[in-house]
Amino acid sequence: MIVQDTLQDDAVAPDRPLIVIASNRGPFSFKQKNNGEFTVQRGSGGLVTALGGLAERHEVLWVAAALSKTDRKWADMHEGRPQNVEGISLQLVQPSKNRYEKYYNVIANPLLWFVQHQLWDIPRTPVLTRDIWNAWRNGYVAVNKQFAEVIADTVKDSRRPVIVFPQDYHLYLVPQYLREMLGDRVQIQPFVHIPWPGPDAWRILSEEIRTAVLKSLLASDRVGFQTKKDAFNFVQCCRFYIDGAHSRGSRDAIDYQGRRVEARAYPISVDVEKIESLVEEPQVPLLKAQLLNAIGDRKLILRVDRIEPSKNILRGLEAYRSLLEMHPEHRGRVHLLALLVPSRMEVFEYQNYLQEIMAQAGMINAEFSDEYWEPVRILVGENYSRALAAMQIYDVLLVNPIADGMNLVAKEGALVNQRDGVILLSEDAGAYYELGEHALTISPFDIYLTAEAMHQGLMMPVEERHARAEALRRQVRGADVRTWFRDQVEDALQALNSQDRNDSTS
Ligand code: G6P
Repeated sequence: MIVQDTLQDDAVAPDRPLIVIASNRGPFSFKQKNNGEFTVQRGSGGLVTALGGLAERHEVLWVAAALSKTDRKWADMHEGRPQNVEGISLQLVQPSKNRYEKYYNVIANPLLWFVQHQLWDIPRTPVLTRDIWNAWRNGYVAVNKQFAEVIADTVKDSRRPVIVFPQDYHLYLVPQYLREMLGDRVQIQPFVHIPWPGPDAWRILSEEIRTAVLKSLLASDRVGFQTKKDAFNFVQCCRFYIDGAHSRGSRDAIDYQGRRVEARAYPISVDVEKIESLVEEPQVPLLKAQLLNAIGDRKLILRVDRIEPSKNILRGLEAYRSLLEMHPEHRGRVHLLALLVPSRMEVFEYQNYLQEIMAQAGMINAEFSDEYWEPVRILVGENYSRALAAMQIYDVLLVNPIADGMNLVAKEGALVNQRDGVILLSEDAGAYYELGEHALTISPFDIYLTAEAMHQGLMMPVEERHARAEALRRQVRGADVRTWFRDQVEDALQALNSQDRNDSTS
């Protein structure tokens, strides 16, 4: 593991910008051997990959939260200073456990996540209590401030232009704090990975919270979203809730307090090169052979998801049951495989979801299975190689979220599938804007039509399957995760350059 002190400002060309990524979960986590030596584990997220290429051309600092005891030890050992880890300069923020718990497990997930995915059962939940206000003030606000302080402290003396990219709903308040701490000399460009609903959905949050989030984002130079719809909804929310925010002559920018803040869509994607090399590794064909052995000559309907209410796994099972009821010719000839990854199990709203899924799958198996055939199989655990192997062999991929910022499973499936499989895609997934034309559209709430779409996918003529699968693959190959990040950096650089030109002419 290469670890060295970084960000020696003099060592690099003075006009080369410093790119700062801030995210709750960082690109690496640390473990410690018995002899005290740290080992580093690389996260698999798209952002880490996107930076792979970028770090060759730019100076990159990544600021993330220390998530484990060992992460904290590693950060302490380096006195909280940035260190070079595998080519990326990494700095860890260390909120206390108590603060972090409030910020992550009470406010970010579930409150903001549920508002933005519109998951609250509003006659009953949420109930905003004193505890939640306490978590907002002493957790979310405090951790966001801490992130901004760490970033500001590290970059304040930099003579290079600085561009900060705060990621996602964990860090909505970072732009405002950074602006207060560093003024206009930094470009601030948050990216929101999850859906941004229209003004009505935000009514759930009281004015103080809603306004804090929106005003902070309006302290940015530009806000990135997954789709044009999200960007448009953000503009509407600002116009609706923030006095003095206007969007004169533009659907995708807000003028507020003398600043023009753009709202742009940058659809995230997968790392095509990396996935194509991963499927060549020996474990993938082995796992594929095992799966094929279990499925035999039956058709495969696959889903791959985090165990997450927004993924709509229960209605997916219900739709499958309807398929078996309405089209008995598929009984014994199809298999539903769900590969589910545990997620956020400390959050109450997630705790019963797996049990409900298992119960429902059990009922379908009890109702329809015979001595040769078990209609549903649920495999729980994180095994990316197994997911890739399964994606190579699906006949139908079910992607039916209630709401989803993008949904990368749809893109991964389109890329690696070898059977001209059909994708059933929710019109409420961000991926729908790029892939919808060549997928079968489903409404996530409509199990009858989802069952019919499963039937249509299973029965589709070979030529049509082939044409759709080819088009999906082309689409994914044409816009990879590097494009996603490069476009954001280019927009920020362009703004910096025109700012420089204006400064030098004024
Ligand atoms: C999903 C979302 C991301 C989010 C992440 C957080 O992948 O699409 O927008 O940042 O979850 O996951 P975590 O496991 O860190 O809570």
